[in-house]
Amino acid sequence: MPATMTAPEILELLDVRDSDVAPAMGLIAGAPSRDAVHALVSLRQRLGSMDEKPQLPEYSETTWTEALLRFAPEVLDHHRELGVSEAVIRDSFADWGRHIALHRRVHGAFGLETWRWLAMHAQGTMFQLGRLQFMLYRPETPLPIQAGGDFVLGIHIPETGKPLDESGVDHSLALAKTFFGTHFPQYNVQHATCVSWMLDPGLAADLPDASNVARFAQRFTLFGESQMNPADALYFVFRTRDVSRIAGLPRTSSVQRAILDRYDSGTPVLGTCGYLVL
Ligand SMILES: CC(C)(COP(=O)(O)OP(=O)(O)OC[C@H]1O[C@@H](n2cnc3c(N)ncnc32)[C@H](O)[C@@H]1OP(=O)(O)O)[C@@H](O)C(=O)NCCC(=O)NCCS
Repeated sequence: MPATMTAPEILELLDVRDSDVAPAMGLIAGAPSRDAVHALVSLRQRLGSMDEKPQLPEYSETTWTEALLRFAPEVLDHHRELGVSEAVIRDSFADWGRHIALHRRVHGAFGLETWRWLAMHAQGTMFQLGRLQFMLYRPETPLPIQAGGDFVLGIHIPETGKPLDESGVDHSLALAKTFFGTHFPQYNVQHATCVSWMLDPGLAADLPDASNVARFAQRFTLFGESQMNPADALYFVFRTRDVSRIAGLPRTSSVQRAILDRYDSGTPVLGTCGYLVL
């Protein structure tokens, strides 16, 4: 039975703020649109699923935004049924508002370009534990390891404005081990993966020794093919996918210079897969 929440309560849960509150309210205050009703059905069918990438029907970004906002109370119920603490629930749902705010930063208007990402949250197995987010999933291609079970944790790094310091990462990994051992003991999770521009094998050499990005990457054993979309690194560091803007992008920090130098040399930084033992 879905939790009953008012529209303002949903937006508070998701930490939707400022100029985004009114348009978000406009989407969910009245009766749902016909397409959102259908999109909600598919979200409901997926709740608790551990697919690496949700396969979802084709609807517009607006329909998915509406459906995801309306679906949040059901994800909340799911978390509570699992016995997840209110603090972890609050931190995890804050990513929804963060992505709505990010859309405004990138496009100057209300929207949710990254609705596919939030559809992963809507599966109900993504949690923010300290600095990092972890999603319990079954990889489409098994990890190149001898043993360790079918399920792993996908590590994600939200842009919080805070650095990715080593002690924070250690703390998060320790929290994840305990959290998933407590709330999902049947999955016997022993490994975590990350797919990121930060794991590009040549990047660390272009960064200072003290770079958190380089140190984070050192934790992982690389595997699989690189993800061949060079615009991803641009998006995460400059919040644009428009390669025609490269000449005008700032070179203020060492990460920015490293990414742009690699573009200039014709070997752009690519998303790379790695795993670690928890
Ligand atoms: C992941 C993240 C927190 C790392 O930041 P960090 O802890 O400061 O990383 P480092 O210590 O390696 O930073 C080294 C340098 O690059 C800068 N830097 C790091 N990430 C940057 C970013 N996204 N944009 C601009 N500059 C960045 C730092 O300010 C520092 O500058 P300096 O050497 O000139 O003083 C940050 O890159 C971030 O928030 N990224 C967005 C989210 C993301 O990419 N997630 C992964 C998605 S796959």
